[in-house]
Amino acid sequence: MRDLALCLFVFILAKHVSSVPTKEQFQSCLSTISRNPNNLTKHTSDSRLYTASLKTSSPSSNFLNLNFTSLKPILTLKPKSESEIKKAILCSKKLGVQVRTLSGGHDYEGLSYLSLTPFIIIDLVNLRTITINLTEETAWIQSGATLGELYYKIAKTSKVHAFAAGICPSVGVGGHISGGGFGTIMRKHGLASDNVVDARLMDVNGRILDRRTMGEDLFWALRGGGAASFGVVLSWKVKLARVPEKVTCFISQHPMGASMNKLVHRWQSIGAELDQNLFIRVIIDNSVEGGQRRVKTTFQALFLGGVDKLIPLMNQKFPEIGLRAQDCSEMSWIESIMFFNWKSGQPLETMLNRDLRYEDLYFKAKSDFVQKPVPENVFEEVTKRFLEKETPLMILEPLGGKISEVSESESPYPHRRGNIYNIQYMVKWRVNTVEEMNRHVTWMIMLYDYMTPYVSSSPRGAYLNYRDLDLGNNTGSKTSFEDARVWGEKYYRGNFKKLGLVKGKIDPTNFFRNEQSIPPLL
Ligand SMILES: Cc1cc2nc3c(=O)[nH]c(=O)nc-3n(C[C@H](O)[C@H](O)[C@H](O)COP(=O)(O)OP(=O)(O)OC[C@H]3O[C@@H](n4cnc5c(N)ncnc54)[C@H](O)[C@@H]3O)c2cc1C
Ligand SMILES: *[C@@H]1O[C@H](CO)[C@@H](O)[C@H](O)[C@H]1NC(C)=O
Ligand SMILES: *[C@@H]1O[C@H](CO)[C@@H](O)[C@H](O)[C@H]1NC(C)=O
Ligand SMILES: *[C@@H]1O[C@H](CO)[C@@H](O)[C@H](O)[C@H]1NC(C)=O
Ligand SMILES: *[C@@H]1O[C@H](CO)[C@@H](O)[C@H](O)[C@H]1NC(C)=O
Repeated sequence: MRDLALCLFVFILAKHVSSVPTKEQFQSCLSTISRNPNNLTKHTSDSRLYTASLKTSSPSSNFLNLNFTSLKPILTLKPKSESEIKKAILCSKKLGVQVRTLSGGHDYEGLSYLSLTPFIIIDLVNLRTITINLTEETAWIQSGATLGELYYKIAKTSKVHAFAAGICPSVGVGGHISGGGFGTIMRKHGLASDNVVDARLMDVNGRILDRRTMGEDLFWALRGGGAASFGVVLSWKVKLARVPEKVTCFISQHPMGASMNKLVHRWQSIGAELDQNLFIRVIIDNSVEGGQRRVKTTFQALFLGGVDKLIPLMNQKFPEIGLRAQDCSEMSWIESIMFFNWKSGQPLETMLNRDLRYEDLYFKAKSDFVQKPVPENVFEEVTKRFLEKETPLMILEPLGGKISEVSESESPYPHRRGNIYNIQYMVKWRVNTVEEMNRHVTWMIMLYDYMTPYVSSSPRGAYLNYRDLDLGNNTGSKTSFEDARVWGEKYYRGNFKKLGLVKGKIDPTNFFRNEQSIPPLL
C-alpha cells in the first residue's frame, strides 16, 4: 500500500511538478512494480556505457545542434530477465518518458542511446542466449547477441551452416535483423530479415507476442520495418543457411587510373548477375603514399565453393580482374567473416568482442540504390573528388540473386528486383567540432547531389540500416504520417503505409518512438 502511494506520488510529481522524472523517481517506480529492484543493473547517466556511446556516436548535422545535456538518459537498465523489461516499459509509460532499446549500439545516428526528450535506455546486453537446432536448421537468438556471437556459436556447432547477415561482428541482432541486413551470402540466401521465421516481441503493455499471437502483419513489419517503432524484440528465430565446408576469398586492389575506372564500370553490369555463390563488393577509398594522396579500389570477394570452380567462373565473367589461384584463399565460412574484417589469422574469439570499432571516430553516412550502370566518366569524377578529401569512403554492394526473387511488398525492405547495387557513402573525422563536421558533411552532400541523376529516384531509395536523419525526421510527437512520408518512402517505398497501419494497431498512442519511427496511421 505504501509502495502504491509512493508510486502514485511519483506519478503526480512527474506529471505536474517536474516534467522530467529523476533517476530516483524512476527507481521508486520500478520498486513498486518489482519486489526485487536489485535485479536491475542500474547506471547513472554518466556511466561508462553512456559516455562511451557518446564518444563513438555518429552525430549528424542534426544531432550536433542539440543540447547534449538534455540527451542524457535518466538511467540505463540492463535487464537480466524479460519480466524486468516489462517493468521498465510500464514505468516509462507511467512516468511519461521514452524508451530507447539498445542491442549492439551501431545505429548510424545513435537513436538507440540518444534522444531529444527524456528517456531511459534498455540495454539488452545481458539477454543474449543463442540456441541452435541443427535438426531444424534454425536458431533462437536473444536480441542482445551480436552477429559475431551468433557466427561463433554456429561455427562451434556445425561446419556447414551460417547465417545470412552483416559483416561486422559487433553489430547487434536486435537492430540489424529488423532493418534488413546485408551480408556476403545475401545473393544466395537473402537478407537477414528474409530469414526470420518467428519472433518474440514485447508490446507497449508488456505483453509477449510470438508470430502466431502477433499476427502476420506485425510479423511482416518486424522483418525490415525497424522494430523500434513496434516494441522490444526479445528474440528472433531464424533459418540457418547451408554453406560448403570450404569457401574461397580474394582481394584485388587497383590504384586510380583508367583501368581502375574500367574495372568498376565493368563490375557494375555483372555484380548482380553473377552466380549466386559469388559476392564481390567494391570499396573505394584513399590513402597517403610517399606524401601523396592516392585513390584505390578494392574488390573483396566470397565464393561459396572451392578455388577450382572460382577461377574458371571469373575467367568467363570478369577476366579483366585477372584472378589467379595464388590470389585466392580457401577457408571455413567463419574465417571468411574474419577475412572481410581484415582479421585473417587472428583467433576466432575476436568475433566475440562487443566493442564498437569507431572509438574516437565520428562519421556520417548516406546510401543509394543503383538501377542501371552509372556512366564510366562518373567514376572518374568520383576519383577526382576523392583526391581532394582526407577520409572519403564508398562501398558498393551487389544485389540481385535471392534478394530479387522476393516481391517488393513481401517484407518492408523494398529495394529488390531492378536494383543492381547499393552505395554507401561515408566521411569520418577525429576532432569533433561543428566546423570539422560541417566541412566533411558538406563535402559528402555535394557528392550525394552529384550522384542524383545516376541513382534511384521518385523516391530516391535509402537503406534503413544506414540510417540518415538528413532524409527527414519526426520533429515531435505530433509528426503526422504525411510529414514522415518524406523519409519513410525512401526507406520503404510503397510499404510505408502498411507500416503506419500496423503501428496504429499495436501502438496507437505512439509510445515507442524516436526521431525516425513510424507514426501511427489510425
Ligand atoms: C561498424 C558497422 C558495421 C556495419 N555493417 C553492416 C553490414 O555489414 N550490413 C548491414 O546491413 N548493416 C551494417 N551496419 C549497420 C547496422 O546493421 C545497423 O546500424 C543496425 O541497426 C545495428 O544494430 P544494433 O543492434 O547494433 O544497433 P542499435 O543501435 O542497438 O539499434 C539500432 C536501432 O534498432 C533499435 N533496436 C535495437 N534493438 C532492438 C530490439 N531488441 N527491439 C526493438 N528495437 C531495437 C534501436 O532502438 C535503434 O533504433 C553496420 C554498422 C556499423 C556501425
Ligand atoms: C531477482 O534476484 C533474486 C536474488 O538474486 C532472485 O532470487 C530472483 O529470482 C530474481 N527475480 C527475477 C524476477 O529474476
Ligand atoms: C529535423 O528536420 C527539420 C526539418 O528538415 C530540421 O530543421 C531539424 O534540424 C531536424 N532535426 C533533427 C533532430 O533531426
Ligand atoms: C542545456 O540544457 C540544460 C538543462 O535543460 C540547461 O541547464 C542548459 O542551460 C542548456 N545549455 C544550453 C547551451 O542551451
Ligand atoms: C529441434 O527441432 C526438432 C524439429 O522441430 C524438434 O523435434 C526437436 O525437439 C528440437 N530440438 C531441440 C533440442 O529443441
